[in-house]
Amino acid sequence: MTHTPPRAAAAAYPATRLRRPRATAWSRAMYRETMLTPADLIWPLFVTDGTGVEDPIASLPGVSRWSVDGIAARAKEAVALDIPCLALFPNTQAGLRNATGSEALNPDNLMCRAIRAIRDACGDAIGVLTDVALDPYTSHGQDGLVDAAGYVLNDDTVDVLVGQSLNQAAAGADIIAPSDMMDGRIAAIRTALEGAGHANVQIMSYAAKYASAFYGPFRDAVGSRGLLKGDKRTYQMDPGNAEEALREVAMDLAEGADSVMVKPGLPYLDIVRRVKEAFAVPVFAYQVSGEYAMIEAAVAAGAGERDALVLETLLAFKRAGCSGVLTYHAAHAARLLGA
Ligand code: PBG
Repeated sequence: MTHTPPRAAAAAYPATRLRRPRATAWSRAMYRETMLTPADLIWPLFVTDGTGVEDPIASLPGVSRWSVDGIAARAKEAVALDIPCLALFPNTQAGLRNATGSEALNPDNLMCRAIRAIRDACGDAIGVLTDVALDPYTSHGQDGLVDAAGYVLNDDTVDVLVGQSLNQAAAGADIIAPSDMMDGRIAAIRTALEGAGHANVQIMSYAAKYASAFYGPFRDAVGSRGLLKGDKRTYQMDPGNAEEALREVAMDLAEGADSVMVKPGLPYLDIVRRVKEAFAVPVFAYQVSGEYAMIEAAVAAGAGERDALVLETLLAFKRAGCSGVLTYHAAHAARLLGA
């Protein structure tokens, strides 16, 4: 997709009829430039306390929080569907949240227990990607430590994120995915992972993450929506900026990111394409909670058909240059793709 093909002088109509190859299904399949497979999908899952718990999320219809045993069951389901990777997010109980998000460092927190349960259930048949940021653990809902004025402190936060990353890696995480947007965290985390003997633990950086209105249902899912005062615009990117996304990506790659992510997804496919063309590295995108909810709302309103909307939107990520997509529709899409 990154090279420009030589342009033969196009024969004029009727020698050229672009509809000719579209006439039959076999021909359309033969001419199709981009393909979607279950290997393109990363499935985000929300972890909650208890045993045998499935807790539906109202603003994310069809998505639930699962207790650790349920997460292990979802992991087995994902393996059977040929989904290569899960992304984990905890709904930390209120009593364990505080100003510093210290539960993120607890080796027996929900995330670590879920990682170990997946490993017990599936061995290394599936990858486990873990989110690094403090918002599911802080009493104020911000991704980092805040000063008296509520400003999110960069360098102090990075120190905690390093500890959180090491905690997740020790529990068996395969891919550390910092979603916090602090400056310098990729280098700090990479150095710490190398020092702790985790040379093969990857980093997928949320490199170009925007301060978006599409994250609402996710904040319900991890229980931070009611806690968050204000917004995240002092650290997440301004939706008007594209050149800045290239600088973010360049820095994270220079600091040791194995792959980069653009987030949200569909409204930012131009960013995906520009990153892919500029750097030729693995780019992932997150079709976020508000995008999922929009599709489900369209289906509920009779404005579209779920299966077609899901497959078309996911294919668009591939066409734009993505190596894969984090999507709450992952299991459904994998089933449609006939794994
Ligand atoms: C927070 C985080 C967010 C998402 C992933 N990690 C929300 C936020 O930045 O407030 C959003 C994912 C989604 O909306 O599906 N570190």
